[in-house]
Amino acid sequence: MSENGGTKKITLEQLQQHKDHGDLWLSIGGKVYDVSKFMDEHPGGDEVLVTEGGKDATEAFEDVGHSEDARELLGPMLVGELEGAKIAPQKPKSASVDPTAASASNPLLMFLPLVFLGLWMAYRNYAS
Ligand code: HEM
Repeated sequence: MSENGGTKKITLEQLQQHKDHGDLWLSIGGKVYDVSKFMDEHPGGDEVLVTEGGKDATEAFEDVGHSEDARELLGPMLVGELEGAKIAPQKPKSASVDPTAASASNPLLMFLPLVFLGLWMAYRNYAS
């Protein structure tokens, strides 16, 4: 059933079927959450959640600048992963084996100009 480490795949259609008070799912960051039981406790009120119900609420959620505590509340409400979500790419082509990406971010490369400077100064000393 689950192909992705036990994460259930939720289609957009399934998500859209849960948009009522008391049966409300929304998607944040490519994951689907059942907020039915949480809505009455939401400090931002239940209305905003109903507005976002059955939809991708990532932008609305991020725009508010929710705290770490708010993000931790999401965990227990997780239903699964949204299929074909914009975020959470399955496997970007370049991510498999890309040695250039690794070397480009190698912090040691930062010091390369210093090494050349050192060599040049040593050469100058030696030549004079
Ligand atoms: C299930 C997802 C959500 C959770 C767990 C959640 C949780 C929280 C929590 C804990 C707070 C208190 C402040 C904080 O700790 O950041 C808060 C505030 C707020 N939330 Fe959410 N929230 C969710 C989704 C949303 C969505 C989709 C909106 C849509 C706009 C929204 C709008 C707000 C607003 C406006 C406040 C500020 C309330 C105030 O300070 O008066 N929230 N939320």
